[in-house]
Amino acid sequence: MIPHENLLESWKKAAGTRAAELVEDGMLVGLGTGTTAHYFITALGQRIQEGLQIKGAVSSSLGSQELAKKVGIPVTTLDFNPTLDLYIDGADEIDPFLRLVKGGGGALLREKIVATAARRFVVIADETKLVQRLGTHCPIPAEVVPFAITPVRRRLEALGALVKLRQKPASDAPFITDNGNVILDCTFPDGVADPEAIDTAMQRIVGLVDTGFFLKMAEEAIIAGKDGIKVLR
Ligand code: 5RP
Repeated sequence: MIPHENLLESWKKAAGTRAAELVEDGMLVGLGTGTTAHYFITALGQRIQEGLQIKGAVSSSLGSQELAKKVGIPVTTLDFNPTLDLYIDGADEIDPFLRLVKGGGGALLREKIVATAARRFVVIADETKLVQRLGTHCPIPAEVVPFAITPVRRRLEALGALVKLRQKPASDAPFITDNGNVILDCTFPDGVADPEAIDTAMQRIVGLVDTGFFLKMAEEAIIAGKDGIKVLR
């Protein structure tokens, strides 16, 4: 059963707020993208208003950076601070091995760059994001150089994917990422039985910049749901 929207929002807020408690004085923090990350960034801003002093935060999207500035988080870049202490971000799907699908908001490439710059990546989500098999509830996004859309699409189809060019909401225009690329959403009809193998095959396609698979990256998940908050490791 799909939970009521208000309940979902309260779960996302609970996960984001709990994650903000992991941030300590002097840390360099990576900020995720999406509605759950939004609650984390807002809660972190609140803690900073109350006296927490972090060294700075690197955002995984222009949208998150704007929000961070608005709530008083000192922003920095990977050029000044290439190693971060902690990255907090949401996910579209989380499997029992903490393998993730991300990129529902189209920020997958910067999210992966920030995630790999961090010593610790904690994923935050409501319990509807938990799945047994990745690719069950959402497509696997691939960020693709616009020049290569058609050849990349053909190669993805050869891997068994149904491929759709992502569009801007309520528009015929393609969605363009913060990096000037497009997103091809890849649906695998039975989900993805072997994410590592499919990810490797996708990554080999020239013109495909990165996939929404985040494998062996998150070391912990804060999951909020009807029974409260659970931490998965
Ligand atoms: C954006 C992402 C988001 O983290 C993911 O889509 C989850 O978003 P939300 O918290 O809004 O459900 O990967 O690219």
